[in-house]
Amino acid sequence: MLEIKNLVSGYGDIVVLHQLSLHVNQGEIVGILGANGVGKTTLLKTISGLLKTREGTITYSEREIQNISPYKELGLGIAHVPQGRHIFSKMTVLENLQISLDNARKKLNEKQRLEYVLSLFPELKDRLNQAGGTLSGGEQQMLAISRALIADPTLILLDEPSMGLAPIVVQNVFQAIKRISDSGTTILLVEQNAVAALDIVKRLYVMDMGRIVYESQQIDEKELEKIKEVYLGMDVS
Ligand SMILES: Nc1ncnc2c1ncn2[C@@H]1O[C@H](COP(=O)(O)OP(=O)(O)O)[C@@H](O)[C@H]1O
Ligand SMILES: [Mg+2]
Repeated sequence: MLEIKNLVSGYGDIVVLHQLSLHVNQGEIVGILGANGVGKTTLLKTISGLLKTREGTITYSEREIQNISPYKELGLGIAHVPQGRHIFSKMTVLENLQISLDNARKKLNEKQRLEYVLSLFPELKDRLNQAGGTLSGGEQQMLAISRALIADPTLILLDEPSMGLAPIVVQNVFQAIKRISDSGTTILLVEQNAVAALDIVKRLYVMDMGRIVYESQQIDEKELEKIKEVYLGMDVS
């Protein structure tokens, strides 16, 4: 469904991603683990069109998308949940969700979509009329994911949903991500928190210094040992 080949991208004179390749199959939940600063956010920004691709190709549903705008990508069904959530803090929870419906690629049944996301994140139900900025960190993450999900995407790019959250809240958020995946949405999840990610991903890559340094096959006991070895051998802060 998503195929990235020899991707090069960065900022100004700085090259961050060096000939990076990976793929995500339809319906999969794929993890990319890596320490702070290895280029995870840069990768997701490049996929979603916020950053320009310098070399290489990004193919999505058999169409090259490396040079199209984030808005057009949304239209193709790719939703990006950015690191740090970026919800509209002065708007209510409901308004945050409605904006996303307004930007969606197709006419959606607002009531149905709202019911669906609230079934995944019941925590938000009592908070619909509250300003986004008054939510807890965990609730803001749930809102950020809901905002992507409500527009009925086929692929969701998740950038460190666990960041800054207490372990119990991380568990809640990750269980919801698993339910989203179970319902058929394809997910590419970028994380520093290996323990949480390993609970839900079906396959994963480990990234270091802008490159993929390890690609897992089926995740079983033996694979887990290898991942730990590779991942914990890095400076994971
Ligand atoms: N806007 C920017 N301008 C210049 N360099 C940046 C910018 N954003 C990130 N970088 C650099 O790119 C590298 C990768 O950053 P990032 O993709 O945010 O890593 P990660 O998400 O894995 O923590 C880092 O060295 C970082 O300092
Ligand atoms: Mg990041």
